[in-house]
Amino acid sequence: MAKAIINANRSQGAIHPNIYGHFSEHLGRCIYNGIYVGENSDIPHKNGMRTDVVQALKAMGIPLLRWPGGCFADTYHWRDGIGPKESRKKIVNTNWGGVTEDNSFGTHEFLELCRQLDCQPYISGNVGSGTVQEFSDWVEYCNMGGQSPMAEERRGNGQDTPWNVKYWGIGNEAWGCGGNMRPEFYADLCRQYATYLRNYDKDHKIFKIASGASVEDYRWTKVIMEQAGHLIDGVSLHYYTIPRSESWQDKGPATGFPRHEYFSTLWKTLRMEDLIENHSRIVRQYQGDRQVGLCVDEWGTWFDVEPGTNPGFLYQQNTMRDALVAAINLNIFNNHCDTVVMANIAQVVNVLQAVILTEGPKMLLTPTYHVFQMYKGHQGAKHVESYVETFLTGEGEYQVPNLHISASESKEGALITVANLDDRNSAELDCVLSGLGQGNAVEGRVLTGGCSAYNDFGSEGIVKPTALAAELTGNGFQATLPPCSVAAFTIK
Ligand code: AHR
Repeated sequence: MAKAIINANRSQGAIHPNIYGHFSEHLGRCIYNGIYVGENSDIPHKNGMRTDVVQALKAMGIPLLRWPGGCFADTYHWRDGIGPKESRKKIVNTNWGGVTEDNSFGTHEFLELCRQLDCQPYISGNVGSGTVQEFSDWVEYCNMGGQSPMAEERRGNGQDTPWNVKYWGIGNEAWGCGGNMRPEFYADLCRQYATYLRNYDKDHKIFKIASGASVEDYRWTKVIMEQAGHLIDGVSLHYYTIPRSESWQDKGPATGFPRHEYFSTLWKTLRMEDLIENHSRIVRQYQGDRQVGLCVDEWGTWFDVEPGTNPGFLYQQNTMRDALVAAINLNIFNNHCDTVVMANIAQVVNVLQAVILTEGPKMLLTPTYHVFQMYKGHQGAKHVESYVETFLTGEGEYQVPNLHISASESKEGALITVANLDDRNSAELDCVLSGLGQGNAVEGRVLTGGCSAYNDFGSEGIVKPTALAAELTGNGFQATLPPCSVAAFTIK
């Protein structure tokens, strides 16, 4: 029996809801077809946004959505996406498949989507191929309430009141698709852009996020923090879980993967903890007396595309293995909520580790979706320390702890989320609660079905959460977690 201890006497603070954020790029079928079907579609929609997708994302509790990229952001000129749709420029999406981008989904549509979702928008501006003036105008267009050229233009396009967009990204992957810059050069640009991204309302201060490092590029974080840390509120980090190799064609399949790739995937996911600790240490060293948050604004699995689909569209299936990746990452973010203030899984619909897949009018919820829903209670709750006894399990060099945990406390009670990474053995858990009160009731839910199980069109309900028996013990509770599962326990 594995002993777990939930110690409410120690906490890293509040878990920012934005840790449960998502990402939507003009890439493949994420925006077009996945979210936005246009005002004339037969698919049920409201102002062009798919009703089924909006409802599902709301039920999951989406707090924040990043847009328009990704790599697309540094080729995007926001003026192409405002005004009458028939006169919007048709451009080539040079990053993703060379397809025509008709700009029918632009600033107004994105902010209408966020209104329907009741979530915070996070806009990534164009630093790679744009100008300071263009970016500064975009902020003014979105946020100026009084009289100004941009505010008048916005009103002319039908939006009277400002949207007060808080979160702004200063470029994306400036070291790569965002301009192939050296950190010193980007740090100077970041200072310049940050200077001209103005606040238009003292009650709605904007939050500026610098384009951060890839994986373990600690020098990038150091230079940005040293040179520009005093002008930003957050710095990003991108880390994808790729089971096999970085090559475009050999990342490994999303389904039907061999057992050692199940474990390489989990092993590589666990690296997130070291990355966060190491980048955070650098951020703290240079942030001075202000807090600069770590924003993991791209994370998730990246596999080979589904056979027969456009390689530029990054469409992949999603199994219980993805659910474990989500559970591990979310546990790590919860446990580091003193420095991680935002995280955005890539991407929300039909791209990479999506929570929703669509096919024409059909929609399904992936195992990853269910993890976000099961973890929803952590949003805004007080993190509490947790520890679980583990042993190593795996194949060859890829040995991982069999259990992974995080916990929080809110007025709804305590929420304890545990993943069983072992694909063959169930885990008996004896969870002791310290400093929480012993609880009058425990409710368990579990997501399982074998590590390669997934939902498909025609068999949408294969993987979904079910009740998990749990018994109060007097100082906590006991439960048995099936192999390859994610469990959530609520103690009231
Ligand atoms: O999410 C897909 C791509 O991955 C994004 O556009 C880019 O920022 C990253 O390299």
